[in-house]
Amino acid sequence: MFSKEVYSRRRETLLGKLRTAGESGIVLFIGNAEAPAQYRDNCYKWRQDSSWLYYFGLDEPRYAAVLDIESGREVIYADDVDIDDIIWMGPQPSVQSLAESVGVAHTAPYGKVDEDVAAARKAGRKVHYLAPSRYFNTLRLMELIGRARVDLGVSRPLTEAVISMRLVKEDIEIEALDAACALGYEMHSVARDSIVPGIVEQDIVGKMEGVALSKGWGVSFPTILTQHGETLHNHIHDKVIEPGKLMVIDAGVEANSHYASDFTRTYPTSGKFSGKQKDVYEIVLASHELAFSLTRPGITYREVHLAAARRTLEGLSALGIVRGDLDEMVALGIAGLFQPHGLGHNMGLDVHDMEDLGEDLVGYDPDQKRAKQLGLGSLRMARRLVPGHVITDEPGIYFIPALIEKFKNEGLGKDFVNYALLESYYDFGGIRIEDDVLVTPSGARRLGPKRLPATVADIEEAMRR
Ligand code: GLY
Ligand code: MN
Repeated sequence: MFSKEVYSRRRETLLGKLRTAGESGIVLFIGNAEAPAQYRDNCYKWRQDSSWLYYFGLDEPRYAAVLDIESGREVIYADDVDIDDIIWMGPQPSVQSLAESVGVAHTAPYGKVDEDVAAARKAGRKVHYLAPSRYFNTLRLMELIGRARVDLGVSRPLTEAVISMRLVKEDIEIEALDAACALGYEMHSVARDSIVPGIVEQDIVGKMEGVALSKGWGVSFPTILTQHGETLHNHIHDKVIEPGKLMVIDAGVEANSHYASDFTRTYPTSGKFSGKQKDVYEIVLASHELAFSLTRPGITYREVHLAAARRTLEGLSALGIVRGDLDEMVALGIAGLFQPHGLGHNMGLDVHDMEDLGEDLVGYDPDQKRAKQLGLGSLRMARRLVPGHVITDEPGIYFIPALIEKFKNEGLGKDFVNYALLESYYDFGGIRIEDDVLVTPSGARRLGPKRLPATVADIEEAMRR
């Protein structure tokens, strides 16, 4: 947790933004509650709501808060533990002391938030709230605002104000992200050093997630570790590692601070790339490096995505997989056949930061519209970059037989794609390379004290050791 001044200042800034936008009424925040996995006393691992963490820091279930835009009064609603709780959980700090630790003076029992919100509504005051990320919060909002379609009442001014703040990271957040990336580096190093043909993928997942659990909160998303990297989010880890394959490892740590890391590397399971694997790997690496070199204030990440896509097509063209004018191919979205996802996303307290608040609101400037094209249409961060943005740089090349067949059968890109040659890549798999990047006043820097080996030579050297 940060100091109480940090949370007070953030809430003050938020209310200031709403006042400047001409808004009035109250702001309602609902923290998460424990979520039973099977029955009430056996819950999913506890994780607080990220916007709650940003403004209130308190990592406790069943908290809510109301900020009064006009008066600035702040109230936290939660219940102190009783003797039954103490028997099972031990003594706990009081709600009042926790509230004071984040600069909030007033507290009330959890149930009182219903009364106070009802009174505000009765007085005709506007109730601003964010899109809920969990069903519990949706249900609570239904009770509090008295309507089933909670989504229709989400406050756009509040959402925009929160996004504008969380999108540009403060120095203390960058420190936390660097620390999360240091753990991500450690986790990935353990994974890389565990790759041996003959063992089951799950074996490595356990070891690497052990690092995340022993030094941080855990993983920032379900680990992707697979010899079928062409399946973008492959969470199945039951395959025996075979020699001569490529293994995609896309994984991140959520530190105890709750800030995330998200790295991807692709390794030859035998420790050495084949000529064919190396050829494709070098293309992805070139796109990855190009994207990083272009990342700086003033450019849009959409432009960076398109430049990386062009570089990928240039490489594929040299291999004879595509042919024709590169700009034409970019415009037609041919790159999406090989990389059906975007170049990157925002990262912070969430690995895909704030996507619960609305992907387009978070990732697109008001004058930008999301494309429909395969690949570009999945770009989650397109904005014009400013210092403090934290994004991922994660191009890939995937040979997805079903997608290639679909394109071929529909005659898509038939003037550009060498479908006959592509058949020899149907068992290739996929490659992705991902680093986490901070936009700085003069350009960009990769987060974390050390960068995971990324070149062919460095990966082979690391695997030899
Ligand atoms: N690393 C997983 C993702 O970005 O979706
Ligand atoms: Mn990512």
